[in-house]
Amino acid sequence: MRHALGTMAIAMAMMATLGGASARAQEWTLVIHGGAGVIERERMTPERDAAVRAALNAALAAGGAVLDGGGSALDAVEAAVRVLEDDPNFNAGRGAVFTADGTNELDAAIMDGRSRAAGAVAGVTATRNPISLARAVMERSGHVMLIGAGADAFSRAEGLEQAAPEWFATPERREQLERWRAAQQQGQRQSALAFDPDHKFGTVGAVARDSAGNLAAATSTGGVTGKRWGRVGDAPLIGAGTFADATCAVSATGAGEFYIRMNVAHEICARVRLSGDPVQQAADAVQAETLQLGGSGGVIALTADGAHAFSFNTPGMYRGVARRGAAATVAIYGDE
Ligand code: GLY
Repeated sequence: MRHALGTMAIAMAMMATLGGASARAQEWTLVIHGGAGVIERERMTPERDAAVRAALNAALAAGGAVLDGGGSALDAVEAAVRVLEDDPNFNAGRGAVFTADGTNELDAAIMDGRSRAAGAVAGVTATRNPISLARAVMERSGHVMLIGAGADAFSRAEGLEQAAPEWFATPERREQLERWRAAQQQGQRQSALAFDPDHKFGTVGAVARDSAGNLAAATSTGGVTGKRWGRVGDAPLIGAGTFADATCAVSATGAGEFYIRMNVAHEICARVRLSGDPVQQAADAVQAETLQLGGSGGVIALTADGAHAFSFNTPGMYRGVARRGAAATVAIYGDE
């Protein structure tokens, strides 16, 4: 009997080992953000805190369901970002900030690390989920980036869901625009931070590793309050706010004018790929160099081995992570 139990224990241990190896191969990770900035407990109501956490959890659940079902990282990041675009608490899709003219112009990008296929849109006005339009550009336009009226026309031609201007506009964002206009009249200098009266870079984004080990990244934003002249930030620029290859995926949420100049997302991935830097170290270093230029904000990053990084030099960043077989976690403030 003792011998039989011993044999059974060895067999179970071997099964556990084999199961562990196979489980590792099936592991997936999803990391999301909903923007970085001056996000502090004193400025948040309990209701908003709870609503943001619920939305982050919903986005992780949507993307996690894709990955748990064996779906691709690309499908997962699109699913997660669509949830955040539909939630008015974030500066993307519904709830996007206003331009100086009182309109909403939306930017988004998606990238598939398997092939480096990428799609992006800038200054679009009528697609309910700009991230899905970016994916349509990647898969069906023959191009990488479409802008403005042309991108809107492509969206209609592709049959993507359209939304009226009222869908995107929220009272809170209109109040932000009014505060921005008042500040302009008082002659306040337009620094990158002064673009947004609340000093938030409310972009949303996701990076994922699927159970086959492939990576993808997606980012969507309304840009900055009071933007003019067709201003485009880093989010839809491949390499600046969004990047994925076989090694690493990054989505950024920062002062676009600086993140573009640092090519932040690609720079982090290049350091991981070429120097072998751990992803947190690479993200922190590029963030620090971007801050030296004058640009604050945050990034999420994920590598093919499943290691992930949150890096932000603002008081808070809406963020979350989910992994196969583990409880999802979300956080808002810097001390969480
Ligand atoms: N990071 C978003 C923007 O600057 O537009």
